Amino acid sequence: MALTPEQVFDSKVDQEIRIEPRDWMPDKYRQTLVRQISQHAHSEIVGMLPEGNWITRAPSLRRKATLIAKVQDEAGHGLYLYSAAETLGTSRTEMIEQLHNGKAKYSSIFNYPTISWADMGAIGWLVDGAAIMNQVPLCRTSYGPYARAMVRICKEESFHQRQGFEILLTLSRGTEAQRHMCQDSINRWWWPSVMMFGPSDDASPHTAQSMKWKIKRFTNDELRQKFVDICAEQVKLLGMTLPDPLLNWNEVRQHYDFGPINWEEFWSVISGNGPCNKERLDARVKAHEEGEWVRQAANAYAKKHRQ
Ligand code: ACO
Repeated sequence: MALTPEQVFDSKVDQEIRIEPRDWMPDKYRQTLVRQISQHAHSEIVGMLPEGNWITRAPSLRRKATLIAKVQDEAGHGLYLYSAAETLGTSRTEMIEQLHNGKAKYSSIFNYPTISWADMGAIGWLVDGAAIMNQVPLCRTSYGPYARAMVRICKEESFHQRQGFEILLTLSRGTEAQRHMCQDSINRWWWPSVMMFGPSDDASPHTAQSMKWKIKRFTNDELRQKFVDICAEQVKLLGMTLPDPLLNWNEVRQHYDFGPINWEEFWSVISGNGPCNKERLDARVKAHEEGEWVRQAANAYAKKHRQ
């Protein structure tokens, strides 16, 4: 007896065979992917803003060149991800409209300000570190175009993380003022980075289904725990501390215990009330409007070529 499209889909997911754009898929699977991939793409693009802020003030030519390259990488990640989402039938224009009118989310982390040079280090180490922890498993996500986009993104993110750690390492071996700047930045970025993994599993509406479909390979809390375990060790190399008095190695669990997360802050930031939400969206909308002539010129050029 022939299998129904749904049975074919389920058996592919079971057997770890990637789902491709032309395959039949449940509507909810498609919607979940468009939601997650587009939000991921928006995060990459909005994520250029806090670091772009420091390009002109980076302390040396080498630091400037590295930071420019890194911010450009983030733009590239956004573009691969918009392309992956487009294979599911939603246009980039539509996704960008949803970002601009507030319907689509982007990562909470990019609504915090970057007030010192050390923040470029903390973003690389902690924010990109959290991103890699979440994104390496996405190289094995069940939807082919998303999984393939993630391979290159992860390679670049891992370079970003190392450059961030190296900035902090340099500061941590510097003057008293530099060490202070380093610690202050870690203090400000730690908890927002821990929150990046999303709500705890019992408050996450999408995790259970996304795990069944193998879109997600680990739950939010599992990834968060891995991140805490790694950072709790790495921070020792910097001779700095994480701002959590309850951080403690638990022999029984073989993991670090950590203090309570301020979920009120998390939900407030993702519903638009973080320190920089308005500034970030205004900057994106302005850039989009000011880029209209570039899109028009590119379209005119493409049309001329077709003729
Ligand atoms: N920032 C903003 N919104 C978030 C965050 C966050 N850190 N974490 C969760 N949310 C949102 C979800 O998008 C969802 O909102 P929605 O229903 O309106 O779409 C809601 O909170 C509930 O969360 P979950 O049920 O846990 O949602 P999901 O299963 O999608 O898991 C996660 C969230 C882990 C962020 C997932 O979408 C994911 O892995 N995305 C890909 C990675 C990514 O987007 N990274 C972006 C930052 S990294 C970077 O760009 C450098």
